[in-house]
Amino acid sequence: MKYKAINPQLFIDNRARFIKHLLSHSVAVFNANDIMPSSADGHLGFKQNTDLFHLCGIDQEESILIIAPHALNVNHREILFLKETNETIAVWEGHKYTQEEATTTSGIKTVYWLSQFETVFKTLVCESENIYLNTNEHLRAVVEVETRDARFLDWCMKKYPLHHYQRLAPIMHNIRAVKNKYEIELIQQACNITGKGFERLLKFIKPGVTEYEIEAELIHEFVRNRSNGFAYGPIIASGASACVLHYVENNKECQDGEVILLDVAAEYANYASDLTRCVPVNGKFTVRQKQVYNAVLRVLKAATQMLVPGAYISHYHTQVGKLMEQELIGLGLLKAEDVAQQNPATPLYKKYFMHGTSHFLGLDVHDVGNFNKPIEAGMVFTCEPGIYIPEEKLGIRLENDIWVTEKGPVNLMAHIPIEADDIERIMLTSK
Ligand code: GLY
Ligand code: MN
Ligand code: MN
Repeated sequence: MKYKAINPQLFIDNRARFIKHLLSHSVAVFNANDIMPSSADGHLGFKQNTDLFHLCGIDQEESILIIAPHALNVNHREILFLKETNETIAVWEGHKYTQEEATTTSGIKTVYWLSQFETVFKTLVCESENIYLNTNEHLRAVVEVETRDARFLDWCMKKYPLHHYQRLAPIMHNIRAVKNKYEIELIQQACNITGKGFERLLKFIKPGVTEYEIEAELIHEFVRNRSNGFAYGPIIASGASACVLHYVENNKECQDGEVILLDVAAEYANYASDLTRCVPVNGKFTVRQKQVYNAVLRVLKAATQMLVPGAYISHYHTQVGKLMEQELIGLGLLKAEDVAQQNPATPLYKKYFMHGTSHFLGLDVHDVGNFNKPIEAGMVFTCEPGIYIPEEKLGIRLENDIWVTEKGPVNLMAHIPIEADDIERIMLTSK
């Protein structure tokens, strides 16, 4: 791992919150993600299962976490089962956790090797009424491969058919949505690394530079700051490409007079940040570009103030839509009389602003969380309004990461330049 050791209290606190949601006499099982094969003997990079990481911080394949708060053997109330290393693995793959290291990382005292799993698990199952298993219930997830969790579920339900089976996902969505202070520090660290990348770009972008050269600058800055890289596929979209919401080709040359949309951010210690900035390729916005930019910025600032405990995301999205409507009228893109007569179910602003304003942020960039519950202190949301005008070859989105607190919203990206004048000044003075 490139990141520095994490305070295990992060995971201890999360487990303490988790067990409050379990029925009496239960055993919960979390599996690591698989290492996915590519071709021949290749494989894709490892990305830990975010639920397992949230509860124990173990960042290694083939790991299993068991939580059984009513286990008769008090040493078996939290157990990690890990892949046992050997000389061959040490030579070919390198270091794997020792049992002591796993305890230091997670705060879990009992660490066994996987070979002991079936015996220990049987004892726990026979003491329990309920078995909690994990499936991916993210509303936008499309999962075509059979995950380790899915294979375990098949095995377990065949082997122990008479137990009551329960879903981990609703519990995890609830507890992961509210971050503890250690998690906020890690997201802040991800935001800080993202900020370094963006500052580097302000000195680098000029007419003739390519989108992939910009991507290369960022990955360099992220990795040298202990990030594993991008928190999601970077969107580096100059000119009209900015109107393609999930543009990921990043293969064009940036032209004089265009604006480039940069939806690019680093992860740190598996925690995501999520940034969007738009900058003029030649260092100076045109009058029209700045009008659209400032319209989006006004909506961003007003929307940020609405991310407070007790608010409902659905109501928030409606309010942001109303702000956007007024801005689009001001820009001459919508007519006030058409807006007055619009069908509220299909508001006209969606022609220019067709995505939501906020999503949960955490271990996953589109993090888990329940959008139907009121916002709580400790949640982290993005705030990312945009206006996309293909006929003007212009797309502007501005995105910050906002920590909701009792004292009001805290912008974790407050240090990253966003005022149009600041962006222009920094770009022009670094030429
Ligand atoms: N970068 C993906 C998003 O902004 O939601
Ligand atoms: Mn983004
Ligand atoms: Mn986002």
